[in-house]
Amino acid sequence: MKKLAVFFCLVFISFTTWSESLTIPPLLEGENLNLYIKEGILELPFGSSKTMGFNGDYLGPTIRVSNSDYINLNIKNDLREDTTVHWHGLHVPAEFDGGPHQIIEAGETWNPKITIDQNAATLWYHPHLMGKTAEHVYNGLAGMFYIEDDYSQNLDIPKEYGINDFPIILQDRRINRNGEFLYSPSMHDYMQGYIGNTVLTNGSVTPELEVPGGTYRLRLLNGSNSSIFRIRFSEGKKFTVIASDGGFLPESVESDSIIISPGERYEILIDLESSKSLNLITDVYGGDTYKTLSIKGLETRGKYLSHPQSFSYEKVAYNENTNTMRKFRMETRGMGGFSINGKQMDMNRIDFSLPTDSTEIWTIVNVGMGMMQVPHSFHVHDVQFSIISMNGKNPTPLFSGPKDTVLLMPGDEVVIALRFQDYTGIYMYHCHFLEHEDRGMMGQFLIE
Ligand code: C2O
Ligand code: CU
Ligand code: CU
Repeated sequence: MKKLAVFFCLVFISFTTWSESLTIPPLLEGENLNLYIKEGILELPFGSSKTMGFNGDYLGPTIRVSNSDYINLNIKNDLREDTTVHWHGLHVPAEFDGGPHQIIEAGETWNPKITIDQNAATLWYHPHLMGKTAEHVYNGLAGMFYIEDDYSQNLDIPKEYGINDFPIILQDRRINRNGEFLYSPSMHDYMQGYIGNTVLTNGSVTPELEVPGGTYRLRLLNGSNSSIFRIRFSEGKKFTVIASDGGFLPESVESDSIIISPGERYEILIDLESSKSLNLITDVYGGDTYKTLSIKGLETRGKYLSHPQSFSYEKVAYNENTNTMRKFRMETRGMGGFSINGKQMDMNRIDFSLPTDSTEIWTIVNVGMGMMQVPHSFHVHDVQFSIISMNGKNPTPLFSGPKDTVLLMPGDEVVIALRFQDYTGIYMYHCHFLEHEDRGMMGQFLIE
């Protein structure tokens, strides 16, 4: 991924006169979980914007469940239009997946009942209505979805929500002089992505977090429509990456920066010294550099914890009988359209089927042709996959853990192993650059 580095430019933008503390989304826990999808207003330093949110004006609560919990969700759509709510990264029966087939009409309520059956992970939720995903997410419909389990609860890592364990949702937005960020992509935006001029952190511009010295866990989500971010700290401060999309990494990774593409998550640990400050910096691929969080160390001393070097993780196992035939060619077509294997998404077409209790190896290629060289990311519903190779090489430790979304630069080829255990029905696979998804870069498969 070194080739990315040269594209980041060095303009530094920050809003020094405005400071607001980091919004910590409220926790939503228990067996009965209620979400109201509504219109809202978000106040920003330059004015205010019409938005959408879950149980509030912008974004949504952090749903927190434990493995094997049974949850009964009541999701009321108080918008004046249809939408859906998809649980990104969750292993869930297709009828409760919240993809384009599970429409919640304006004024209606959807009631998925789900038994959690997967390891600790930082997942998220967002709408997935055919052709409207980008707009709904852009307007603010997104939230975190945490799964905990005995293993995660017994680790000696920061796990006190809003105290030493923080959700960090990064999203770029194109904000006009009046403070509005209305969604109106041009043809160029469909191709290159809807790149913003501001990066919001949990819905605020450069918020502040004041905490005692100690070890902190940040659960990072790139919740932007189509911007790739490089995340780092001021003064090149090193941090430890402990988890990717679907849970803990087999080996943690010490780093001074990571690339996170739309839909991906990473959990990191960082040590903050008392009375010192630390800025979280976001470089937008093809865009500017933003100070996205200012962490101020109080004089007091909190909890310092050692950073674990490894975690238990079982890669998806395969053998010589595993189906390796499946290939996915992600292509740009003319006029802002996108396809996978030459086909654009059609709700009435099943692209392929496979039986339950099967393992497959998929090869994904970003076909970079001529002028149409744009990055894509590949996301599959229902499962967490293991990466077998990236451009013919073994994955580095950062890509060796559970993943549900993977970035492919033009010409890249990624091979993944997936295990389809039990649930049946129609699931999606698509590019998680939402402008591409909405313009056809999606397909569906049937597990029967
Ligand atoms: Cu996060 Cu099918 O999406
Ligand atoms: Cu998903
Ligand atoms: Cu794409």
